[in-house]
This record gives sequence, structure tokens and C-alpha cells, in this order.
Amino acid sequence: MTERAGSTDAPAVDELTPPNRTLMGPGPSDVHPRVLRAMSTPLVGHLDPAFVEIMNEVQELLRYAFRTDNTWTIPVSGTGSAAMEAAIGNVVEPGETMLVPTNGYFGGRMASMARRAGGTVVEVDAPWGEPLETDAVAQAIADHDPDVFGFVHAETSTGVCQPNVPELSAVAHDHGALVVADAVTSLGGVELRVDEWNVDVAYAGPQKCLSCPPGASPLTLSDEAMEKVLAREEDPRSWYLDLSLLEGYWGDERAYHHTAPVTNVYALREALRLVATEGIENRWERHERLAGALKAGIEAMGLEMNASEEYWLPSLNAVRVPDGIDDGDVCRELLERYDLEIASGLGDLDGEIFRIGCMGHSARPENVVYVVTALGDVLDRMGAAVDPSAGVTAVRRTIQ
Ligand SMILES: Cc1ncc(COP(=O)(O)O)c(C=O)c1O
Repeated sequence: MTERAGSTDAPAVDELTPPNRTLMGPGPSDVHPRVLRAMSTPLVGHLDPAFVEIMNEVQELLRYAFRTDNTWTIPVSGTGSAAMEAAIGNVVEPGETMLVPTNGYFGGRMASMARRAGGTVVEVDAPWGEPLETDAVAQAIADHDPDVFGFVHAETSTGVCQPNVPELSAVAHDHGALVVADAVTSLGGVELRVDEWNVDVAYAGPQKCLSCPPGASPLTLSDEAMEKVLAREEDPRSWYLDLSLLEGYWGDERAYHHTAPVTNVYALREALRLVATEGIENRWERHERLAGALKAGIEAMGLEMNASEEYWLPSLNAVRVPDGIDDGDVCRELLERYDLEIASGLGDLDGEIFRIGCMGHSARPENVVYVVTALGDVLDRMGAAVDPSAGVTAVRRTIQ
């Protein structure tokens, strides 16, 4: 038997000391100290009556944040993609058709998940950086008669907020299609009204406007959507994300399905309690106000936003990279010089935009001043045609 060199030596790894960054990228955002404290409280078992009470509270708080009365409102164990796959993998049955958008990176992920669920994917087109138009969706629905229509409410890859959600839902429902909304970057930061807008299924990520570490991701389904899930002829392809099985744990029975990520559920509870204390509408207003100051600073500095004013997404500000500047160099320099995270573009907008988040606990006046100051400084050093002082002045004048 050959012995592998070093296999018995314990690795010498230092105590964890991650850098103390300011997180103004597309997520995760800065976590509130109260949420961090909640994560250091003692574990209880995932079937402990005390935890069952916590589960009820989280469900109630999630309903408040989603603006819904849906019974079927839970945190899915995993990141936003797990909630997304729980949504799509359960409501799309083999042989069914799902209509997805082409105007951003995450519409592409929806398509991929729908195909893996055995569905046929059809697309409704809009350019990256533009929202879906009601007429285009109506036409695509008339042409393809989909069973499910998915759209991205807050497209993190383009900085676009889909504005006409009630109209899109109405068009889909007229043809009997269920409506699935990706609210990963909108829940808790941008106006979202699941019941009033007649959205059947919505999912989100905790690490964006809820400022919670990733790990337990919000999902809500209407009674109609859940009836469809429970009446499926074929089991969903994922056992872990099968909502008919998860019903046993999150429904009345509270029976074991998998070991819930207890600490992440604590964190989500505290993050949602912060939302409830602030008031959801006040929170939407805060995001708009502070991201508005950020946008004013960006534009006064001489930079251009990627999305137009009518569908600008406050939680994710997509800013055009100035000519002659390498976006990756700027992000690296901000990290090294300022301990500040922003991100580059994705997919079709790779190399063309910066993505600057203004989410949850990161959406604070001091962070907005900081990001505009630091970005202006780094771009100026790199020789970009920007006026950093004009940027900072505009933020100071706009911010309240
Ligand atoms: C709009 C959107 N949908 C889905 C996801 C996937 O979430 P996660 O990375 O938490 O799996 C993201 C993540 O950034 C997102 O921005």
C-alpha cells in the first residue's frame, strides 16, 4: 500500500480573519449586527417546539415582506437558486411550456431550470437593459400558449426593474398560465406586492435587500399554484426541493424532511424583524432615496446609468464603464485601496457596466458617500474623464 505524503499531517490553518469589506456589489450586502448576533445564539433541534414557533414567526414575517396572505410561504434551505429551482421544478411539469424572458442573465437561468424540469422553453425578447413590454408578452403568450410565464422583477445583471407587473400577470392569467416572479433582488428593497399584482409564485434571496447571509431563501406560492404542485402526475425531479414533501415539514404536520439550517432561519427571522420594525413601505422609500443620491453622484461625476429612469432599479445600479477603462481593474483597486466591493457586468454586459448595489443594511448614507468618493478617486487615478468632486457634491446635496 502506498502512503500519500502528508496525509496524516494536520493542516496549519490560521484563525479566520476575513477582511472587513463594505459590500456594495450585487449581493451579499452588509449584514446588520442584530442578524449576526442572532446567528450566534444556541442551536435548538429542527423539530423542537421552540423551533416550530420560530418557523411560524418566519412564515408570518415573510408574508408581510412579500405582501401576501399565501399559506404557502417558506424559507427554502439553500441560496436564491434553490428557491428558484423549487419554484420552477415544481410548477413546470414534463411536457409543459414555460415562457421566459431574454432581457438578462437570470431569465437564462430560468430557461435552464425549466428544461431540466422536462419543460419546453419559449422566449419573449427584449434587449438587455430594457424591461419586457406588455404587448410583446401578450403576443408570445398568444403564439405559444405557455403553462407558466416567468419574469425577473429586479434583473441584477442589467439594473432594470420590471415596471408593468400587474399588466403582465393579467395577460398571462387570461391564457391560464401561472406567473412566476424572480424577486431575488427586490424583496425587502423595492416595491413588490405579490397578492395585489396577482403573482402566483415568487422567490427571493436573503443576501440582497434583506441583508442576511445566504442559506435560507424566501418562496411563496398561491393556493392555485400549490394545488397544481400537489396534483402533479409525475414527481418533481429533485427530491430535496419537492414541495409536496416539504409540505410535511412546513405545513401542519411538522414532520422531518431534512435538517433545517437552524442558524440561517434565526438570521432570516431577525432580518425580517428589522423589515417589520422599519415598515416595508418605509424601506422601499429608503432604498429609492439613498440609491437616488448614489445615482445623482454617479451622473454628476460624468458617468452614465445603464437603465433609463423609468425602470431604474434602486437596489442594483448598473453604471456604464467609461471609455478606455478596464472594469476589472477598477473593482480590484476599490477592493484593495478602499475595502469596498462593487462588481463587473455579467453575460451580454460583461466589461460594459459596473454593478453597484444599494441593498438593505448597505443602503446607508455613509456608504453612498463612500462609494461615490472611492469610485471617483479610482477612476480619476486611472485617467477616466470624471469629476469626482462634482459627484460627492451631488450626493451631499441629494442625501437627507
Ligand atoms: C435575479 C437573481 N435571480 C437569482 C439569483 C440566484 O441567487 P443565488 O446566487 O443566491 O443562488 C440571483 C443572484 O444574484 C439573482 O440576482
